[in-house]
Amino acid sequence: MSTKLVAPVRERAASGELGSSVVIAALSRALDLAEGEPMGHAIRSCWLGMQMARWLDLRPAERQDLFYALLLKDAGCSANAYSVTHWFQADDLVTKAELKITDWSSQWRSMIFAIRQTAPSAPITRRMAQLVSVGSRGAGLANELVEVRCTRGAEMVRQLGWAEPAAAAVLSLDEHWNGSGRPRGLRGDEIPLLSRIALLTQTVEIFWRRGGGRAAETVLRQRRGKWFDPVLVDLVLAHAGNSKLWRQMGEVTHPEHVGYLDPEPRVIPSTNMDDMIRIGEVFAAAVDAKSPWTTNHSTRTAALARLMAETMNFNPIEQDRVGLAGLLHDLGKLAISNAILDKAGPLLPEEMEEMQRHTSITHEILAPLWPLDDVAEMAASHHERLDGSGYHRRLRGPELPHGADILAVADVYEALTAHRPYRRGMDADEAYFELKKVQGRRLAAEPIAALEHMVADRRADEGDQGTVSPT
Ligand SMILES: [Fe+2]
Ligand SMILES: [Fe+2]
Repeated sequence: MSTKLVAPVRERAASGELGSSVVIAALSRALDLAEGEPMGHAIRSCWLGMQMARWLDLRPAERQDLFYALLLKDAGCSANAYSVTHWFQADDLVTKAELKITDWSSQWRSMIFAIRQTAPSAPITRRMAQLVSVGSRGAGLANELVEVRCTRGAEMVRQLGWAEPAAAAVLSLDEHWNGSGRPRGLRGDEIPLLSRIALLTQTVEIFWRRGGGRAAETVLRQRRGKWFDPVLVDLVLAHAGNSKLWRQMGEVTHPEHVGYLDPEPRVIPSTNMDDMIRIGEVFAAAVDAKSPWTTNHSTRTAALARLMAETMNFNPIEQDRVGLAGLLHDLGKLAISNAILDKAGPLLPEEMEEMQRHTSITHEILAPLWPLDDVAEMAASHHERLDGSGYHRRLRGPELPHGADILAVADVYEALTAHRPYRRGMDADEAYFELKKVQGRRLAAEPIAALEHMVADRRADEGDQGTVSPT
């Protein structure tokens, strides 16, 4: 990757500013994980799509729409994770990754996919029963799963403030050139050009990663005129002749490597968090949508943590940064299967180990955003405990990053008062009782006192003794 191209992006970060292009590229890696792909899938798809935009001589506004559509193409992916797990009785991340390499427009291949993926570890009688259930829903189920994902994804693109063509591109991401796609069965030019580019690049990136340039070119030829617009296929094949294209794509590994491809990135100053918080709210909603049991968890935790920081006399900038860390703290959960997140009972040791990976993944996703280092540290430390019994770095009291103790209390309080598959949510007094039991040993006393103070104030204002939430 040319250092000349990446340098301006680095200079901006060093001066304490972020560009929206790098922020969204960094966060797109969370969406990769939610689709069962490794981090970097979306940024490489984006890089290839932007090369196509150059060959097609698209206008700057179209290139910008394409840039964000490619990075946010999987924005709605968490919205169907619960349904995928429910219907296939399998690991949603494995099912989704397998679906990406299956030509599901073929009935025969769809059937083989369903047989392989439905309840793979269940006894044969349960597998058959589930397969009948999936089969009875047939195309309707597939349409529903794609529609939920694409509609939610397009909505998120709008909430982030990008233009309608970017949202429209995400909405029609799974439509195929010959009309065999979903959910609307559009064909040919009825499908927006940006969607046609996005479908092609995301598929090519997956096949390239599995089998190199040869596999990428094979899938392009096999699906030319079926999934893909023939003109776009010919365009890529014409430029892939000497394999330089695939070599260059292999060098795209970091958000900075695509940051310069947005013709006009928005500047996000690190001292004013308004834009970052808006972005954080959208990604928090994506995390919360993954499981019906965590609805509003990130947004509620963030609101609680921010108010606690205010009560503890943090300055307004610090309050915003605590709130932002609250919004982003569970980003890493997008990489955890719903088979674990939604399990109706205590987790087995190996499942617990898998669940505990989410904090280090949160850190890895946020790490490229250097001006937000403190936010990344706080977010990734929300399961650390004063006595060193937390995870993932087993930090102890003084080692905890500034604000992490607040986030830890907000996270636990929110979780205790929310319903879970295996228990109902506690009321405020029951939750305090639990917090007090570990006060000063595992959780810090000051944030617990701040929380208690906030709820007492709210109860006094409302004259309502039963109020649970201070937000
Ligand atoms: Fe967590
Ligand atoms: Fe959490």
